[in-house]
Amino acid sequence: MKMLRLFLGIFLCFLAVTAYLKCVSAEEMRTCSGTVRMRNRPEVVSIVQFGGVGDGRKLNTWAFRKAIYRIQHMRRRGGTLLYIPSGVWLTGSFNLTSHMTLYLARDAVIRATQDTWNWPLIDPLPSYGRGRERPGGRYMSFIHGDGLRDVIITGENGTIDGQGGVWWNMWRQRSLKFTRPNLIELMNSKGIIISNVVLRDSPFWNIHPVYCSDVVIKYVTILAPFDSPNTDGIDPDSSFNVCIEDCYIATGDDLVAVKSGWDEYGIAYGRPSYGITIRRLTGSTPFSGVAIGSETSGGIQNVFAENVNLFNTGVGIHVKTNIGRGGFIRNITVTDVHMYNVRKGIKIAGDVGDHPDDRFNWNALPIVDGITVKNVWGEKVQQPGSIQGLKNSPFTRICLSGINFGSFSSWGSRSPWKCADITGAAHGVSPWPCSELTSTQGTDVCSLRS
Ligand SMILES: *[C@@H]1O[C@H](CO)[C@@H](O)[C@H](O)[C@H]1NC(C)=O
Ligand SMILES: *[C@@H]1O[C@H](CO)[C@@H](O)[C@H](O)[C@H]1NC(C)=O
Ligand SMILES: *[C@@H]1O[C@H](CO)[C@@H](O)[C@H](O)[C@H]1NC(C)=O
Repeated sequence: MKMLRLFLGIFLCFLAVTAYLKCVSAEEMRTCSGTVRMRNRPEVVSIVQFGGVGDGRKLNTWAFRKAIYRIQHMRRRGGTLLYIPSGVWLTGSFNLTSHMTLYLARDAVIRATQDTWNWPLIDPLPSYGRGRERPGGRYMSFIHGDGLRDVIITGENGTIDGQGGVWWNMWRQRSLKFTRPNLIELMNSKGIIISNVVLRDSPFWNIHPVYCSDVVIKYVTILAPFDSPNTDGIDPDSSFNVCIEDCYIATGDDLVAVKSGWDEYGIAYGRPSYGITIRRLTGSTPFSGVAIGSETSGGIQNVFAENVNLFNTGVGIHVKTNIGRGGFIRNITVTDVHMYNVRKGIKIAGDVGDHPDDRFNWNALPIVDGITVKNVWGEKVQQPGSIQGLKNSPFTRICLSGINFGSFSSWGSRSPWKCADITGAAHGVSPWPCSELTSTQGTDVCSLRS
C-alpha cells in the first residue's frame, strides 16, 4: 500500500513536471510565423532542366529566367518549387513570380555575377524619390519581385552570395553611378516566407520587403564583413504584418531597421510600417542592433522586439529620425535584450540621417511617442545611452524599465545618460537615467494605454 502511494506520488509529480516543462517551452517558443502558411508545392522543377550548370563558372541567368518564365506561365495549381541542387550557380539578377518556392539544397550556392556594368536598372521607390545613395534610378536587386503573392525562399540552408566586394569598392572609390542593388527585394507583395537560407556579402541591404504585407523571415543567417558599407540585414519598409524570428545577423550595418520612406517623398506616399515583430535575434554590427529609422516619413507603429542578443555592436537599440522626416514613431516595445561589448546601449535621436535633397520641409517634424525599453542586461557597455528629442517636437512617453548596464561608478554623481526634449518615466534603471525621466514605482507609464 505504502509502495503504491509512493509510486502514485512519483507519477503525479512526473505529470506536474512535464506539464510545467511543456508550459515553459510553449512560452519560450512564442512565434508569429503562423502569419504565412508554409506550402508544399505539387510540382517540382530543377534548374538543371533549364540548362543550368552549377560549376561556378557558367552564367545561369537565362536558365533562371526561363525556369521562372515557365512557372509563371504554366500556373500549376498550388504552385511550383524550383529546386537548386548543390553546386555553385553563377547568375545575373532575376525576378521571382507568384506561387513559387525557390529551394536551395544543402551546399547549393546561388552566386551573383560581378559584371556590374550589365546590371539592370529600375525606377526609384516612390517613397524615396531617388536611389538611397545616388540620385535617379537604382540597380535592381539580385533576387527581385514586384506585385507577387505566395513566394517562398527556403531549403536546407543553402547560400545566396551577392559577391558584394566589387560594389563596396565602387562605393569606397566613389565611382557608383546608381544606388547599389539589394540582395533580395520584394515590392508590393503579400504572403512571403524566407527561411533556412544563408545570405552572404550583399552589395547593399540584404532583405528589403517594401510595400509588402504578411512576411515571415525565420532561421535566416546573414553575413557580411564588419566594414562592408550599408549591408543592413533586414529592412521592413512601408510594410505590415512582418515576422522576423530566429535569425543570426552579423554585417556591416543595422541588423534589423524598420523604415517607411524618406522626407517629402515618404510623407507624400504616406505608407506606414506597422505590426512588426522581431524575436530571437542574435548578432553583431558596428552600427545598430534593432533600429527604427532613420527613414520614417510614412510613419512607424506597433513594433515589438524581444529576446535580442547583441555582441560587439555599435548601438544596441536605436530610434532615429530627423527634421524634415515628418511621420510618426509610436508604440515601439523592445524587451529582454542582452548586450555584450556595446558602445552605446540605447539611443533615441531626432537628428540622425541625411536628406534626399534640399527640398525637404523644415517644419515636417516627426512625432515620437510611446517607446518602451525593458529588461535589458548589458556587460561592457561603454555608454548607457542618449535620448534626445526635438525642441519643437519633444519625444513623449519614453519608458525605461529594468535596465542594468552596471553602476558606472566612475561617472560619480553626474548621470552618464544624455537627455533633452523628452518626457517619460524610468523604473529600476542602473545607472540611474536623467531627470527628464520621472521615477515611477508602477509600470503604468510603461503600459501605453492612455
Ligand atoms: C524584372 O522586374 C523588373 C521590375 O519589376 C522589370 O523592370 C524587369 O523588366 C523584369 N525583368 C525580367 C527579365 O522579367
Ligand atoms: C538551418 O539553420 C538553422 C539555423 O538558422 C537550423 O536551426 C536548422 O536546423 C538548419 N537546417 C538544416 C537542414 O541544416
Ligand atoms: C502596440 O503594439 C502592440 C504590438 O507590439 C499591439 O499589440 C498593441 O495593440 C499596440 N497598442 C496600441 C495602443 O495600439
